[in-house]
Amino acid sequence: STLFPYTTLFRSVAILLSRGPLRRGAAALQRCAPLARFYSTPVQNDAQQKPAVSIVFGQEPPSSLPDPFAVVSSQLRPLETSLKDLVGSEHPVLTRVAQHFFELVGKRFRPTIVLLAASAAAGGEPANARQVRLAEITEMIHAASLLHDDVIDLADTRRGAKAVHKIYGNKVAVLAGDFLLARASVLLARLQDIKVVELLATVLEEMVQGEMMQVKAMPEELLELDHYLSKTYRKTAALMALSCEAAALLGGHPPEVQAALQAYGRHLGIAYQLVDDHLDFVGSAASLGKPALSDMDQGLATAPVLFALEEFPQIGDIVKRRFGDESDAALVGDLVSQSDGLRRTQELATAHARKAAEALGVLAPSTARDALLRLCFDVLNRQA
Ligand code: IPE
Ligand code: IPE
Ligand code: MG
Ligand code: MG
Repeated sequence: STLFPYTTLFRSVAILLSRGPLRRGAAALQRCAPLARFYSTPVQNDAQQKPAVSIVFGQEPPSSLPDPFAVVSSQLRPLETSLKDLVGSEHPVLTRVAQHFFELVGKRFRPTIVLLAASAAAGGEPANARQVRLAEITEMIHAASLLHDDVIDLADTRRGAKAVHKIYGNKVAVLAGDFLLARASVLLARLQDIKVVELLATVLEEMVQGEMMQVKAMPEELLELDHYLSKTYRKTAALMALSCEAAALLGGHPPEVQAALQAYGRHLGIAYQLVDDHLDFVGSAASLGKPALSDMDQGLATAPVLFALEEFPQIGDIVKRRFGDESDAALVGDLVSQSDGLRRTQELATAHARKAAEALGVLAPSTARDALLRLCFDVLNRQA
């Protein structure tokens, strides 16, 4: 809406003032009648101790929920530079490739949720320095996984540009991914929290296992929704779940807060990948900045196909041979569009987005918690 920039500006000023010595200014500002209509109080819990929002697919979030990226923009913006500084190396090609990736427009979804989780756990106080470092580490791990994923998936484009392996070759792309993981590990160790190291090391383990489950599944497993969801948790949601949990640990928060943020990241991550798999069918390469309609060509059956399989059993054999015949992908594409597969995928994503929102009931209401709630809507509505 046209009010958007003003509400964001107003909110930023209010957040700024609510910190430190300017607190009284914030109180005064909140009393200011004409502006007060923009600055609503955070979403409260309902009788079941869950945030009082209702998430429906395709529905806009309540206008009172803030733009998540704007809430943490003061900590997110410096990250663009610091990420490039952190991956400098003694080899010019390595440095160039690692930095190339951070210069391209990505959504910065993972650092955003880590910064917001850190803040929401602390009742709205901004993330501390170690939590900001954790946010950087998560984007490095994510970038490494994309470098490797594009080699595995033979993808031509990423973040609206040529994929790294298409420019520099597979050897450099794999090594650059390894380098990012190595640098992320060094930075992680420097946080000097052994439990946090364990969590993020577990993420790496899960991500590799998730990709492996996708590459090397038994034919029968390819038909199972449980196998697909377990793979989805590992390759996508584990990073969000365990880095949110790590953010809580670094803030010194109690186990119930750690568990709540872990559950939030897990459900949001599963919803994120379900929507990604839905977009592979309905999105365009131009808006995605990466290839569309590519999963079946790679031999992958995602949620829309698995749901369509329940209506059209003939899909089973095609999935088991990994869409190996020339007309397989086109045929299944038609059957998916005749089936309830896309709608059921949306419903499953919505169910996970709701669970993510519910998990936040443990945290005190705050602007940061509202921003995390807003992401539960955004994840369903994203087109890119
Ligand atoms: C792509 O992640 C891989 C998935 C888990 C779907 P993003 O869609 O967050 O990619 P960027 O970071 O915006 O490029
Ligand atoms: C993305 O997986 C990579 C990881 C989550 C590790 P996909 O292969 O499903 O996603 P895109 O479509 O290439 O981004
Ligand atoms: Mg992949
Ligand atoms: Mg891929």
